[in-house]
Amino acid sequence: MAPTPFDTERLRVRPFVPEDVDWLIELDGDLEVMRYITGEITPPDEVRRIHPLVIGMYDTYAEQGHPEMGTVAVDRRDTGSPIGWITFKPLRDLDHVEIGWRFLRASWGHGFATEAAKGRIERAFATGEVDQVIAIIDPPNVRSARVAQKLGMRCIGNARYQKWDVDVWVVRADGAPVTALEGLELRPARGPLADPSKA
Ligand SMILES: CC(C)(COP(=O)(O)OP(=O)(O)OC[C@H]1O[C@@H](n2cnc3c(N)ncnc32)[C@H](O)[C@@H]1OP(=O)(O)O)[C@@H](O)C(=O)NCCC(=O)NCCS
Repeated sequence: MAPTPFDTERLRVRPFVPEDVDWLIELDGDLEVMRYITGEITPPDEVRRIHPLVIGMYDTYAEQGHPEMGTVAVDRRDTGSPIGWITFKPLRDLDHVEIGWRFLRASWGHGFATEAAKGRIERAFATGEVDQVIAIIDPPNVRSARVAQKLGMRCIGNARYQKWDVDVWVVRADGAPVTALEGLELRPARGPLADPSKA
């Protein structure tokens, strides 16, 4: 079982295959990519170990009633080359669905992350898969916050999530404002793109 592929104007979003591991090693081996994630590169052997587990999660999410969820590759349609991934999945330990993104540095700045994530959120809202999506972002990660902002997400505060301090961004299918999220204790947002009224 694996999520259904879909196309956007410039991109194809598709399930991972084992062969993706090669460019994932490049992705996670780039310190600039990993700067706001772990702050260090992930060694190739660790990427090789994790990749099959990520693919295996498709079945796990399907068993939990979320057959379209998981982390999926994003290819450029013009070249056919992979440029990154988006994730759409239940947040560990919390009853919220998160969206996330990680792209090869050479592809940054062309709106690709925004385009892929927008396609995914629109599908989720159109099919009724979820009615709300959140993103958790390291406050100084302005590029990522800007993606969230361009997706129509609002930063509703900062919270402790596991060992991280994160700004919490939310968008709802009905466009209604969100002021609280179960399981997250919100305090003033910290990133520069946060809604000033929430600071
Ligand atoms: C975050 C990431 C996915 C964005 O990818 P991308 O394809 O460049 O994203 P987009 O082009 O759709 O949007 C980036 C936006 O940030 C803006 N931006 C870039 N640097 C910025 C800065 N220093 N300050 C403000 N905005 C900035 C860009 O101008 C662009 O906005 P615009 O379209 O209004 O000009 C990519 O940088 C990445 O993979 N980073 C490393 C992994 C990561 O941190 N993931 C997120 C973890 S929460």
